Amino acid sequence: MKTARIVIIGAGSRGSIYAAYALAHPESVKIVAVAEPREAWRTRLLQAHGIPESAAVADWRELLDRPKFADAVVVATRDAMHVEPAVAAARKGYAILLEKPMAPHADGCRQIAVAAREAGTLLAVCHVLRYTYHTQMIKQLIAAGTIGEVVNVQSLEPVGYWHQAHSFVRGNWRREAESSPMLLAKCCHDLDWIRYIMGRKCLSIQSFGTLKHFRPDQKPEGAVARCLNCPLEGSCPYSAKKIYLSRVAQGYCGWPVDVLTPEPNEATVLEALRSGPYGRCVYDCDNDVVDNQVVNMLFEGGATASLTMTAFTEGGHRQTRIFGTRGELVSDGSSIRYFDFLSDTRQEIATTSGAHLTHGGGDDAIMEAFINAVRHNDSGLVLSGAEESLETHMMVFAAEKSRCENRVVKMEEMEGTTKPWSRRLIWWRHK
Ligand SMILES: NC(=O)c1ccc[n+]([C@@H]2O[C@H](COP(=O)([O-])OP(=O)(O)OC[C@H]3O[C@@H](n4cnc5c(N)ncnc54)[C@H](O)[C@@H]3O)[C@@H](O)[C@H]2O)c1
Repeated sequence: MKTARIVIIGAGSRGSIYAAYALAHPESVKIVAVAEPREAWRTRLLQAHGIPESAAVADWRELLDRPKFADAVVVATRDAMHVEPAVAAARKGYAILLEKPMAPHADGCRQIAVAAREAGTLLAVCHVLRYTYHTQMIKQLIAAGTIGEVVNVQSLEPVGYWHQAHSFVRGNWRREAESSPMLLAKCCHDLDWIRYIMGRKCLSIQSFGTLKHFRPDQKPEGAVARCLNCPLEGSCPYSAKKIYLSRVAQGYCGWPVDVLTPEPNEATVLEALRSGPYGRCVYDCDNDVVDNQVVNMLFEGGATASLTMTAFTEGGHRQTRIFGTRGELVSDGSSIRYFDFLSDTRQEIATTSGAHLTHGGGDDAIMEAFINAVRHNDSGLVLSGAEESLETHMMVFAAEKSRCENRVVKMEEMEGTTKPWSRRLIWWRHK
């Protein structure tokens, strides 16, 4: 069978993770080109994959302007830069692995879904959680009737105090206008997962959320603009020295440290903290996304769900309880426990397979599914196609509408903002 030839668009954190899959599976996939403006990141990929100089360029347009020369593209640019390359790649007939969120706005998501549909091209959105062994085991248990009909899902996204500080206060997702709302950036996975587990359409949605803590008015007296010279640094849990330099001191230079500099070591990280965005006081950044949010959902048939997203946790796996008519299931990302009402018995399944990998094995699993779909020309092998993903992105936009307008939003209202073609797109699979 042919080896899938892949183009990486955006060789930052995510693009590099997907590219690394090719090194582990050279028989099934080869990275043949890269578009990345940051020279160090581009060169790193070029060298790792033996990409010819002529196929390593600064901007995706330089590659997508050429006649089609590969099977698929991975679009791993930042949130606001997905629509143009995804639409251009679809029009050129490439299969597309598209990072989430599809786009920061509903219309951008629709444009991508329409382009893929009109071109008849395979498009998978990186809702990696659908693909984990853990999720697939839960789906199987529910399908087998283990807990009866699902009545309610209760989900916690424990972002983690340092992850919030890194990505959503100091980092690239700190400002809604430059990336996307927090719920879209962090929890489009969660709403997508809940919808996937429910197996039914969401009808109504309601949300509250605030930026409660990481604000100038919470800055302790005496704190200064940068952690490196802050007299209160030693007593601040969000200290950049603590978050980054302590990891480097322990010999760890992977994510999030490698976001600061392409060659992390004590000197380069120190310099990044001295002059870059990640050395700033968390109370003195230009962030505006929320640090806590709740979402309530009503599904077809009367089932309900709730999600809590909060910065103020140790971090770690998402935690979920699923309440059914015949049993209750508790999931913490590495094990599933369920209780059967008829027999009054408990069972536990360890789901550690892949749990040590990024996103609980979801990053590898989505690449495997996508590459198989490309090689077999079978879109049925991906679980997060354009239409499914468009529907769950609309749930996020509806939740944000609710939060901003302080009212319950019916999903059909989102259809109201939908042009006729995209209304068909949202619902056609569920008729
Ligand atoms: N699926 C997940 O669980 C998950 C997790 C984290 C991030 N993401 C998403 O992945 C995407 C990328 O995130 P990241 O953390 O890798 O960001 P990143 O900033 O590390 O990578 C984006 C890259 O795109 C490059 N780029 C900018 N302009 C370009 C152009 N014109 N042509 C080609 N490349 C260009 C940037 O230089 C950068 O290296 C984001 O949309 C993010 O929300 C998804």
